[in-house]
Amino acid sequence: MLYYTNIVSLWSTITNIVYIIYVSILSDCYCSVDLTCMSLLETNTPSSSSSSSSSNQYQMISHGQLDKSSGPVQAMAERVSERHPSQVTGDRIYLDYNATTPLEPAVIQAVSEALREAWGNPSSNYIAGAKAKALISKARDDVATMVGGKAEDIVFTSGGTEANNLVFHSVLENFKRSSTAGDQSSTAGDQSSTAGDQSSGGPSGETQNRNPGRPHIIISNVEHDSVKLVAENLQKTGQAEVTCVAVSMVTGRVEVEDLLVAVRPNTCLVSIMLANNETGVIMPIRELCQRVNDVNKQRRHPRILFHTDAAQALGKIHVDVADLGVDYLTIVGHKFYAPRIGALYVRGPGSGTPLYPMFFGGGQERNFRPGTENTPMIAGLGKAAELVTANLHDYENHMRTTRLYLEQRLKEVFGEEKVRFSSHFPGSETLPNTCNFSILGPHLRGRKVLSCCKTLLASVGAACHSDLGDRPSHILLSCGVSPEVAANALRLSVGRATSRADVDAVVEDLRNTVRLLES
Ligand SMILES: Cc1ncc(COP(=O)(O)O)c(C=O)c1O
Repeated sequence: MLYYTNIVSLWSTITNIVYIIYVSILSDCYCSVDLTCMSLLETNTPSSSSSSSSSNQYQMISHGQLDKSSGPVQAMAERVSERHPSQVTGDRIYLDYNATTPLEPAVIQAVSEALREAWGNPSSNYIAGAKAKALISKARDDVATMVGGKAEDIVFTSGGTEANNLVFHSVLENFKRSSTAGDQSSTAGDQSSTAGDQSSGGPSGETQNRNPGRPHIIISNVEHDSVKLVAENLQKTGQAEVTCVAVSMVTGRVEVEDLLVAVRPNTCLVSIMLANNETGVIMPIRELCQRVNDVNKQRRHPRILFHTDAAQALGKIHVDVADLGVDYLTIVGHKFYAPRIGALYVRGPGSGTPLYPMFFGGGQERNFRPGTENTPMIAGLGKAAELVTANLHDYENHMRTTRLYLEQRLKEVFGEEKVRFSSHFPGSETLPNTCNFSILGPHLRGRKVLSCCKTLLASVGAACHSDLGDRPSHILLSCGVSPEVAANALRLSVGRATSRADVDAVVEDLRNTVRLLES
């Protein structure tokens, strides 16, 4: 796991360096092309579009060129799009905001200022260090406020993958330490010198083996790979037993009774995402947490810790750790217009909730995640969090209205019989921005349709599965979507600046593409 996370960390550093170059070029010119869009553009450029030269494909346009024709929603889009110079790439329209988001201009500014003015080592006892330290402290406050937690409960990480790995690592380490008879004294001494005050996050001083057997972990069958593959690896290597609870084929959610049936005497972790990246379904985390806490009240050991990966929910719906009742919550910057960095919320790290470091080093982040802090990216994360706290209502309303308009246009253009939505589940709430749909027909496989589109940039599912060929998404199949419908699925996710004109252009593009493929 250490090797894996080092790779993740290295990769994050590389992407952050690319971002820095990108940011410093863009912050002055205020019109841009998102790097992710560019790579999508390259792979998505249809052979039939040879008439447009590659320089045209990468042409930058200002937002003055957007259609400004209609109503209050359009006004909101215009206002927001002023702040999103990178959402439109040449003649393409990016509707893949669940894969990643461009940086908000205010975030670019925060990152740039930190690069220029807070370059000092945050641990240094002079002005340059103090500046960096103050920025990090402010960002920690802002990230905590966004999720309704305390600043001391936030640990910065390289991203969501590392945060998720850190949870599994910590819970297993805690189980192991609690299980080892008479290791209390060495554990406390060992930990207090390395990571915060771990004494109350570890064993309570009893000498009997409190956690017989191997730890048992519960996840759902629609988790992101950064949870799923961690759990699979722990099972494969004999370090843990894992139960994968199936979501309901009716609601697309993990249902409370299904989770409770899976609990065993040795269950020590439940990890269920807050919102699914492909269907947009919001899981009933509050209810699940409450019921797991009821189980905790009825038994002493092991305590079942609850983790939710909130990567897709933050910046789209209200997220409050106290309301949810979770012990851990994963925060992923690049899903809410921040740079590629993340954080983990831990309710009382090392004291109320176990947290054991995966890395060892210079003592930063109270030793829970040592390594000289990435001040500019942390500053960017803080600024993006501040924007979410201030504007969530507007963001959410705009995305919902735009997504509903998209669904309405799809039904009007293709007819209700020809379009199936895999982001509509009876009784389930879904993310405001996510529209997963299939246009029915033998020649209309999702990848094929996307590869022929001249305007739309979107995906058929999770970006990290984009090399899986034509196989339908296992997430959709798990939610009860038929293989034929899943094979044609397109995941469109709108952003803060997506306008009605964008939707109209994308639907027209789809109409032309379907005509072409069916002719
Ligand atoms: C639900 C979910 N969890 C975790 C991640 C991984 O986050 P990161 O890319 O920061 O490692 C993603 C990113 O796609 C995600 O969608």
